[in-house]
Parts: sequence; C-alpha cells; structure tokens
Amino acid sequence: MLASEKLVAAFNRQIGHEMGASMQYIALASYFDVETLPELARFFYRQSEEEREHAMRFVRYVVETGGEVAIPAMPAVKSGFGSAEEAVQLSLDQEVMVTRQINSLMDQAISSNDHAARTMLEWFVTEQVEEVSSMETLLRMVQRAGDSGLLFVESYLAQGLVGQADGAAE
Ligand SMILES: [Fe+2]
Ligand SMILES: [Fe+2]
Repeated sequence: MLASEKLVAAFNRQIGHEMGASMQYIALASYFDVETLPELARFFYRQSEEEREHAMRFVRYVVETGGEVAIPAMPAVKSGFGSAEEAVQLSLDQEVMVTRQINSLMDQAISSNDHAARTMLEWFVTEQVEEVSSMETLLRMVQRAGDSGLLFVESYLAQGLVGQADGAAE
C-alpha cells in the first residue's frame, strides 16, 4: 500500500465531505427549481455533479494506492431556505469549510512526505480557489439584486458569467 493508513482514513472522510456537499447542492438546486429560478437551479445541480466528481477523485486515488474505500455515514443536509441570499451564503460557507479540509489534508501529506498525495491534492487546492471565488461572486450578485432582482441574476448565469468556464473545463 502506497499511502499511509492515516492518510487513507482522512481521504475516506473527505469522500464523505464531498458527497455531503454534492447532496447539499441538490437541496439548494431544488429550492431554486421550486422558486422558478431555472438558471440558479441549473448552476447548483451542476455544482452537485462536480462535488460527486471530487469524491470520485478521492475514490480513484485510494483504489490506485491500494487502500480500502470506506465511505462514512453522512449527516443530513440542510433544507428549507428562507431566501436566495441565505441559500448562496450557505454554499459559500460550505466551500470555505471544504477549503479548510483540503488544506488540512495537504498539511498531512506534507508532514508525512507523501509526494503522490501532494500532487493529487494540488488540483483540489487550485479548484477551491475557483469554487470560493465563484460563490463569492454569486453571493454579491444575489445581495445586490435583492429578492425582486433575481431575474437579473438568472440572466447573468444564462450568459455564463459565473463559474461556467470552470465547469466546462473539467
Ligand atoms: Fe468539492
Ligand atoms: Fe465545491
């Protein structure tokens, strides 16, 4: 086995975090879907797919290094959002939390001199910069628009002005 057992355990926990994020984004997407904001819904459904793909990167890495994939129990995701701003703020908070988790995994890879894990995690470090940045942009848009201006946010998203390029590049 190439990766240390401690790191494999941490990667398994991260599989849970990424799948948790994926499910949280489904809850957020469906909120926007019910509110008849199809572009916001589409944005969050796509985010959900991306988070599943993140989880799969960890799954593939654990398998490739001969570790055992053990997917942890996941807490229920939040539902019942009061406003678009609340929903997007939750997404930003989630991305900031995931960034901390990735940084902590990188700290462990560095301290155990695991160069393969470091190289794998570098992709995530870069990805989190984009994820936090696009969620901050979306939050500012939603705040500026207010409840009555959400159709403007829809039109911005339809034009591909938030995070679309990131998604397309993957
Ligand atoms: Fe992720
Ligand atoms: Fe993310």
